[in-house]
Amino acid sequence: MCGIIGILGTRPVAPLLVDGLKRLEYRGYDSAGIATLENGHLTRLRAEGKLVRLEKKLAAQPLAGHTGIGHTRWATHGVPVERNAHPHMSGRVAVVHNGIVENFAELRAQLQEKGYKFESETDTEVIAHLVSEALAGGKTPVEAMRAVLPCLRGAFALALVFEGEEDLLIAARQGPPLAIGHGKGEMYVGSDAIALAPFTDTVSYLEDGDWVVLTRRSATVYDADGKQVNRAKKKSSGSAFLVSRGNHRHFMHKEMFEQPETVAHTLAHYLDLAKGTVRKLGNTPDWKALSRISFACCGTAYYSTLVARYWFESLAGLSVDHDVASEFRYREPPLDEDTLALFVSQSGETADTLACLRYCQQSGCKTGVVVNVAESTMAREADSVFPTLAGPEIGVASTKAFTAQLAALASLAVMAGRARGKIKARQEEELVRALGEVPRYLAQALKLEDTIGKLCRHLMTAQHVLYLGRGTACPVALEGALKLKELSYIHAEGYAAGELKHGPIALVDEDMPVIVVAPHDRWFEKTVSNMQEVAARGGRIILITDKRGAAAVSVKTLATLVLPDVPEIAAPIVYSVPVQLIAYHTAVLLGTDVDQPRNLAKSVTVE
Ligand code: G6P
Repeated sequence: MCGIIGILGTRPVAPLLVDGLKRLEYRGYDSAGIATLENGHLTRLRAEGKLVRLEKKLAAQPLAGHTGIGHTRWATHGVPVERNAHPHMSGRVAVVHNGIVENFAELRAQLQEKGYKFESETDTEVIAHLVSEALAGGKTPVEAMRAVLPCLRGAFALALVFEGEEDLLIAARQGPPLAIGHGKGEMYVGSDAIALAPFTDTVSYLEDGDWVVLTRRSATVYDADGKQVNRAKKKSSGSAFLVSRGNHRHFMHKEMFEQPETVAHTLAHYLDLAKGTVRKLGNTPDWKALSRISFACCGTAYYSTLVARYWFESLAGLSVDHDVASEFRYREPPLDEDTLALFVSQSGETADTLACLRYCQQSGCKTGVVVNVAESTMAREADSVFPTLAGPEIGVASTKAFTAQLAALASLAVMAGRARGKIKARQEEELVRALGEVPRYLAQALKLEDTIGKLCRHLMTAQHVLYLGRGTACPVALEGALKLKELSYIHAEGYAAGELKHGPIALVDEDMPVIVVAPHDRWFEKTVSNMQEVAARGGRIILITDKRGAAAVSVKTLATLVLPDVPEIAAPIVYSVPVQLIAYHTAVLLGTDVDQPRNLAKSVTVE
């Protein structure tokens, strides 16, 4: 979490730093700050809250200088107040930091014993003091970094500037990503290429353990052993990230309405819709040689794998194991060469998911990643890369990345089923044609927006909301509950409909809205029985179903949202839309910050 940026410029850098930070705000937004060198001296401005607060402060107290660093924070150590905001300074050094220094308590105690005074509760401040101590001992900045970096344990990305050193910026990567941007007589460093997009499209990525000494004309990279290494320059697609909200009130709204297009792009990568076949792609696993898929991911991406489990098991006969990435490694699951460890991630940087990928690689099993950011660490490290072509997703709550993940996973399951001989050419064609219709169904589902907007007036006053689903609708119910709590801060729980009677039914009364996700599929009648149990206890049911479901259901509902009749494989993708719209419109009615909900961040680079 947290976004960092550094610039060695030929013009005043404060506005450029803020521009870069705006693109990094998805990584955290509870405080922000910048430090520049004005005539060789460090000056700093920080503000609690969103970046706009820092911008306002800067308008009143501009910082001059052509050299500087900036930070947008997601608090780990210490509350989100100005004194804990970055950059942190000590003596001649200022530092910005993303990640966690795990041994900070020990280092802090040692520094305090030596008389260093701490102004913040952060782990970052120890870095500033350690470097400052080394400088005071006569070391040059480069020597100081060489001495300090091995003392730091944990996962972090750093950028530092030094008083009296107008043409020097040092950055380091141990874990979270860091990109170097090569400009014309300017040099940049940032948490990702998106931040650097306004300045340059020529980037090189630091590898784990690397640190770099930047001047305006050079970037000298050292690896963890201190050996000078070369990191190739690449053309970044970062300029494509210069996204705007268009006519939409929120990025999330725009992203929901992009789904027919983003799902179509993703499907077209995997499927030949004209021929009704899966495409032959390079670098795919040998599906026949596999016996198992093991999924590990976080958040919304995790729910995509819960849907995918149904597909891979029923269509490809592959047994599927899944877990949240933060728990996966602790189980020490047996992994062998017949297992494909498959990860799903929008950002390709989530710390827990990345740690699992590396763990699986060390265990000798094949790895693959379904990923949206093509230049991400996971995309670079996995054996097979399966892109989702959702484009940049800015809203912190994932929408179009989720449906693109489902589209990619469904396509892969068909591909695996075909390769393993579990499905015949005719069934392949049926499934491919069914998936090919999904963009059209998504467009129809989005037309429910007005109805859902009105319905949300009933939800905005609820204290708790229950979501139920069965089969592939069950993970959609879980995702719906997650979206609602993320955006509206209303407590929501998703449950397998059959589990209702094993606990959650105790919560049902006339104040409890129960949202039931139930296409008219082979599980429909059983779900209707669960709805009867809710209705018998006065629960207010909102049913999301199709025309056949609406005609068949006999239970009294508060509202029935009717989607088109869709084939089974398409249903979880299409039914994601109404649950997104419900969360969005409830949040809008409540006036919460839809694109940047409190306490959340889009890219979670700490474990
Ligand atoms: C955060 C985001 C979620 C996302 C999750 C996993 O919690 O707010 O929207 O699903 O991280 O992120 P990833 O980038 O790995 O998909």
